[in-house]
Amino acid sequence: MFKHAQLESVKAWIGDPAHAALPLHARIHRAVRQLILDGRLDAGRPLPASRVLAASLGVSRDTVEAAYGQLHVEGFIDRRVGSGSFVSERARRGPGRGTAARPGAPEAPRLSRRGGAIFQGGGVRDFLAIRPFAPGVPETRAFPLQTWERLERQVLKEHGPRILQHGPPQGMAPLRRAIADYANLERGARATPERVLVLTSSQQALTLCATVLLDPGDRIFIEDPVYHGARKAFDAAGLACLPVPLDADGMRVDLLRDAAQGARAVFLTPSHQFPTGTTLALDRRLAVIEWARRQRAWIIEDDYDSEFHYAGKPMACVQGLDPYERTIYIGTFTKSLFPGLRIGYMILPPPLVAPMTVARTLLDGHSAPIPQLTLARFIEGGHFGAHVRTMRAVYAERRDVLARLVRQHLSDFVEPRVPAGGMQMPCVFIRDLSEGAVVDAAGRAGIDLLGLTALHAPGRHEAGFLMGFAAYAPNELDAAVRRLAAVLRALS
Ligand SMILES: Cc1ncc(COP(=O)(O)O)c(C=O)c1O
Repeated sequence: MFKHAQLESVKAWIGDPAHAALPLHARIHRAVRQLILDGRLDAGRPLPASRVLAASLGVSRDTVEAAYGQLHVEGFIDRRVGSGSFVSERARRGPGRGTAARPGAPEAPRLSRRGGAIFQGGGVRDFLAIRPFAPGVPETRAFPLQTWERLERQVLKEHGPRILQHGPPQGMAPLRRAIADYANLERGARATPERVLVLTSSQQALTLCATVLLDPGDRIFIEDPVYHGARKAFDAAGLACLPVPLDADGMRVDLLRDAAQGARAVFLTPSHQFPTGTTLALDRRLAVIEWARRQRAWIIEDDYDSEFHYAGKPMACVQGLDPYERTIYIGTFTKSLFPGLRIGYMILPPPLVAPMTVARTLLDGHSAPIPQLTLARFIEGGHFGAHVRTMRAVYAERRDVLARLVRQHLSDFVEPRVPAGGMQMPCVFIRDLSEGAVVDAAGRAGIDLLGLTALHAPGRHEAGFLMGFAAYAPNELDAAVRRLAAVLRALS
């Protein structure tokens, strides 16, 4: 039999709204199991007969029988024909025995030093509810969903249940072929399908580069300011990041040669430097390749949004200029198509293909086959090229609209640095404003800004914010800039 308090505790567990999604027999099973784990029902103690407990709880006997049956299968109780059910000896060493663990404030988990540092760093926060001016977000309302759906149906029909199995860790062959063709033609890369490794994102590529190519404590040159996702991936891997300043031609590559200490790698966003938008000049591209050859160092080239260049064709990628195979090219479809696709890739020097592919099997095994094959068809069918062309015109207009609006409404506060490409525009303060206060007040007014300070190495730099423009129609940009102007006026 249960004591009164035990019966009440079972009733409370069953009636708790937090457990309402469980069927009744499962709630009874869990409630009795908890009594045993808490040490409130000792080994050898008899449980009430199922008929008696059913009557006390106002449920059917079958329901209690189902709960007891499960407790028996799991070893919490023994059932003896003719004499009933008893708490088993095996349940004697329950985790909470004797302490009757009570709900309370959960203890902070003890993380590794690396885990603690990653958690403290805050990870890379993507904007979930898209509102102006969240940077780096493409316009998804114009995406040709019907075409995508049609191609996905074709894939499912042609491949049948086979496509539901695991896929190769390096990626599906048709997608690797399509990516290599695209990168050769549009980015001047030296790609073959055998060198392409399909991943879930460029973020994953950055983590792989940081852990497969470098050891904790190794030095890596990064741009200053730098893409925060890259710096966090390198920090998490325990690398020593050495910030290198920029000028109008991109990273000051001459400083790499002159640096007192060398480094094992350099991270670059050469097409549109993140966040400044500058393009790495040709002589610097050649100089960084030469530096990497001499140092036997790696160039990690993050070519995240080069599809969107508004003044002629974008410059060919560094990887295509590098005859020494020191460059790892990182691409993503997050910007050119949509972030939810989760497909990025690396084009690797041949000797790195196997090590990187093996390493990725430990992260996530492989990328999902159905989206990969759908994307391959989307590219081969010319839909990718058409979509990028359409969006390039849309984004170019939005960039111009935003630049005009900023000059019209925010000229007392900021100076826009209009980029030749990309999806976001930096604005620097021309007045003494607190960047944190501006970002916070804008957030309360429904506007997302990314402050520039956190992207810089500590020290002197221009404060301001980054404004994404690609995902917002001209009327949305207009309304948001006016709201931002009111926020800035109120802070001045
Ligand atoms: C420079 C840069 N690289 C990479 C990414 C992220 O791409 P992915 O979604 O493929 O990780 C971003 C996104 O904002 C970015 O700005």
